[in-house]
Amino acid sequence: MKSRVKATGKDKDLQDNLLLSGPIPKHIAIIMDGNGRWAKKKGLPRIAGHREGVNSVRDIVEVCGQLGVKYLTLYAFSTENWKRPKEEVSLLMRLLLSAIRDEKDRLHSNGVILKTIGEISELPNAIQDELIDAIETTKNNDGLTLILALSYSGRWDITNAVKEISKKVSEGTISVDSITEETIKNSLSTKKYPDPDLLVRTSGELRVSNFLLWQIAYSEIYITQLHWPDFRRNALYESIDSFQKRERRFGLISEQVKKNGKEKQSLVSKIFKRVSNH
Ligand code: FPP
Repeated sequence: MKSRVKATGKDKDLQDNLLLSGPIPKHIAIIMDGNGRWAKKKGLPRIAGHREGVNSVRDIVEVCGQLGVKYLTLYAFSTENWKRPKEEVSLLMRLLLSAIRDEKDRLHSNGVILKTIGEISELPNAIQDELIDAIETTKNNDGLTLILALSYSGRWDITNAVKEISKKVSEGTISVDSITEETIKNSLSTKKYPDPDLLVRTSGELRVSNFLLWQIAYSEIYITQLHWPDFRRNALYESIDSFQKRERRFGLISEQVKKNGKEKQSLVSKIFKRVSNH
């Protein structure tokens, strides 16, 4: 049974303000960094940071659903993370397994659709099974699409796309000259999702770290000093507030963007008038 958690009190006021003050990003992508540093600061083992990080994931997923964000992509485990000490990789895998198991019902009752990108076949079988089950359970929901990037890297994604396109060329299904940006977009693991509007990175590092390399070409980037376990809803509101204050030009000049915005606005109000006259 669906029992979506609704915002209340001051939190609802903050959300209402954001909804009124500008567009909510349709797709937010997050590089969740700083779990280890968070733990170290507190004199705790690194895994304690990852564990607390799961609580941030829960909070951010809930609040994205409430705000009407359509897609949330979380960089949960990169291709490079396999090279971490064996002990940490195995603890992370165990945490991932229990998090998917424990959160599945909550995700489902909040209308979340779970998806993954990455080399899922490299994950332990138990995680693959749990993911398949959660993806199947949530596939007909109509809320936030939560995309977990697992054993993922941008270069892995682009390499696969190049292989797929090359195969089609060598089989004669497509010609080299017919390859466009659309061909590449449609060969990436993210083909069904729009590009992220907002890319958030926690813990202060000024790097993209092999995340969605193709897809973030025009994303607004927001870096916070907060470590991921401290990144909760109010920090997300701040990132959206910053996003709303930016002017997204997509390579155009400011005047063109404003003109396009006004034309779109007047078209919307014309349609609105027509509809309300009927
Ligand atoms: C980065 O911190 C974090 C990770 C590599 C793992 C992120 C995983 C989680 C938050 C838990 C599971 C996620 C889900 C989706 C249930 P770091 O270890 O690189 O921190 P450091 O840079 O301070 O060492």
